[in-house]
Amino acid sequence: MLVSNKSPRGSWTPEMVEKGGYPHFMLKEIHEQPKALKNALSLRPDICEQATGILNDSEEIYITGAGTSNHSGLAGRYMFTKLSTMKTQNIISSEFQELTGKILDDSYVVLAISQSGETLDTINAVKHAKRQGARVVSMTNVVDSTLSKISDYTIYTYAGPEYGLAATKTFLVQVACLALLSLHLSLMRGSLSNDEVNKLRNELFQTPLIVDKTIKRQDKVIRDIAYSYANKPSFLFLGRGISTATAMEGALKLKETAYVHAEAYPAGESKHGPIAIIEPGFPVIFVAPPDENYEKLVRNLSEVKTYQAKIISVVQENDSQVRGLSDDSISIPETEAIFTPITYVIPLQLFAYFVAFKRGYDPDRPRHLVKAITEP
Ligand code: BG6
Repeated sequence: MLVSNKSPRGSWTPEMVEKGGYPHFMLKEIHEQPKALKNALSLRPDICEQATGILNDSEEIYITGAGTSNHSGLAGRYMFTKLSTMKTQNIISSEFQELTGKILDDSYVVLAISQSGETLDTINAVKHAKRQGARVVSMTNVVDSTLSKISDYTIYTYAGPEYGLAATKTFLVQVACLALLSLHLSLMRGSLSNDEVNKLRNELFQTPLIVDKTIKRQDKVIRDIAYSYANKPSFLFLGRGISTATAMEGALKLKETAYVHAEAYPAGESKHGPIAIIEPGFPVIFVAPPDENYEKLVRNLSEVKTYQAKIISVVQENDSQVRGLSDDSISIPETEAIFTPITYVIPLQLFAYFVAFKRGYDPDRPRHLVKAITEP
């Protein structure tokens, strides 16, 4: 069994666990994201090469994970499909065995994502895949976790310890590592030229600075918006393309930490039923980067607006159209479209945190939830 990039960096020192002056681990870990991202982006090229070699040597990739790890995997699917032209599926790990049955064999690779490396659903999905003869590459934040021991190859994300129950920095580093794999895979498969990959890599390496700027510039704006919507009983989160993954992660954060009902949908799907729930004042959060889906998203937003929904949007700094249609908006510095889950999720993490705080809940220890579900 190949094992990758283990290093003493995986050992966590006591002070890393301290809250460092923040009221909650969740806020501390949100603020740690620029550093965690830089760490993840320093993934050794040889590790990337070996993992990508296994992914490339397959007919199709099945990405599996639970919760937030499923959402980073969904972003990864968009990257592998659009950049690397690699056939890629997503299956949440609790449904993996049902949905794959006996179709897997040694021509498939399963990419299993789990920050803890201990989620039983994901462990079981990997065991099923291996019984069918598929190879398994895993991505985890915990060195020598169970997942790493049963995988053919493991990529460690090195986000440092995450003590808030809701995944924040571990989501970001998962998306960053998937982006690095996708760029490597694109070179290997010739779907992108060296120049195109280098340009995208430079954009990717800008994301820690963009995340840092967003947190510093928008922290209070987001807090004020969150406080003004903290009593709303339900939200819709809408995005298109890769922003669907960002919207799903934002909705999960709000459910996990503030116990508020929140649903995420591809915005194009919202007219096939979900918009029926909208009434005057109903809050809808749009993840609206200026990508190839922007014009269609504006149409979705305009339709929702006719039903007098309250529109909150996450937009690029120089945006005017979506901002002009929104009741509240949060600005993000320019980001390469395919990497927007890294930067556009920041306001959604902070929004969830501040709503939970306003409601008087402890976002670090939400009711009913555990950091990793290791029993059936
Ligand atoms: C759930 C957590 O138990 O497990 C989620 O509440 C998390 O926050 C999910 O995303 C998956 O965890 P892991 O460790 O497999 O990424």
